[in-house]
Amino acid sequence: MEDFRAASLKSWTAVAPDWDELTAWVDYQLGIAAEWMLEEASPGRGDRVLELAAGPGTLSLGAARAVGAEGQVICTDFAEAMVDTARRRLAAEGAENVECRVVDAEAIDLPDGAVEVVLCRMGYMLMADPAAALRETARVLAPGGRAALTVWSDAISNPWAALPMQTIMAQLGAPPPEPGAPGLWALADRTRLQRLLEDAGLESVHIQQLDDVVEYESFEHWFELTGRLAGPIRALLAGLNEKDRRTIEARLREAAQPYHQADERLSMPERMLGASARRA
Ligand SMILES: C[S@@+](CC[C@H](N)C(=O)[O-])C[C@H]1O[C@@H](n2cnc3c(N)ncnc32)[C@H](O)[C@@H]1O
Repeated sequence: MEDFRAASLKSWTAVAPDWDELTAWVDYQLGIAAEWMLEEASPGRGDRVLELAAGPGTLSLGAARAVGAEGQVICTDFAEAMVDTARRRLAAEGAENVECRVVDAEAIDLPDGAVEVVLCRMGYMLMADPAAALRETARVLAPGGRAALTVWSDAISNPWAALPMQTIMAQLGAPPPEPGAPGLWALADRTRLQRLLEDAGLESVHIQQLDDVVEYESFEHWFELTGRLAGPIRALLAGLNEKDRRTIEARLREAAQPYHQADERLSMPERMLGASARRA
């Protein structure tokens, strides 16, 4: 697990400048997730809110507006470079009731019952030990506090990422990841997700499928954005030589055909699971 954590931190630190530059795209691609989470957790005036694995801090921005000057938002990520991105962005947006800092979601340095709301968009499935992170989430929630999160659903419903992953793995002759190992699809099983939330001490678990279609200008646009933003795909691409990279690009171009519009544009379906729960 320690090796995984170190590699993951390195890879998310490396992608932080791209998340900074492409925050608007991230928020377009993950827009339905943010909307659903804020509605489910409904942070109210005066609430204390913690965002975990926040990247550029989109949920913190939404929460900061909802809790008002009498509330407080703590925007966190384990990668310092991501926290810097969020800090700059939130300051530029004039969100004064937000504190940005480095926190590992698997070991949160807050006392028990410190917040009314915990938000985590597309984070838990990438962590070495999501069960530990969810226990920590439950621990820092005050009684009656709400958690809302989203994770990717299964590979088949997410060709935008599954096609590059599968094509690269096939080219490298790499075995498929162990079921449940950290990665994009690690929490795609609703039953496992529900059990993890309940085992963490959360109740009234509600899980909902969230579907959207993301429009890319062209094959090149999709390949570039996915290779820059998706940490696990970027890490795989970085290890390729030029010949393998060209072969993969040609195979992917083929695989993307069914998603083309009449013109150059690509319409890629995506599916997430949203989950909300309460602390007893
Ligand atoms: C896919 S990005 C999502 C970022 C953001 N939540 C969003 O939706 O825009 C995943 C984020 O999780 C962070 N992360 C991964 N493991 C973490 C951990 N154990 N603790 C805190 N953050 C973590 C990464 O640094 C990265 O910023």
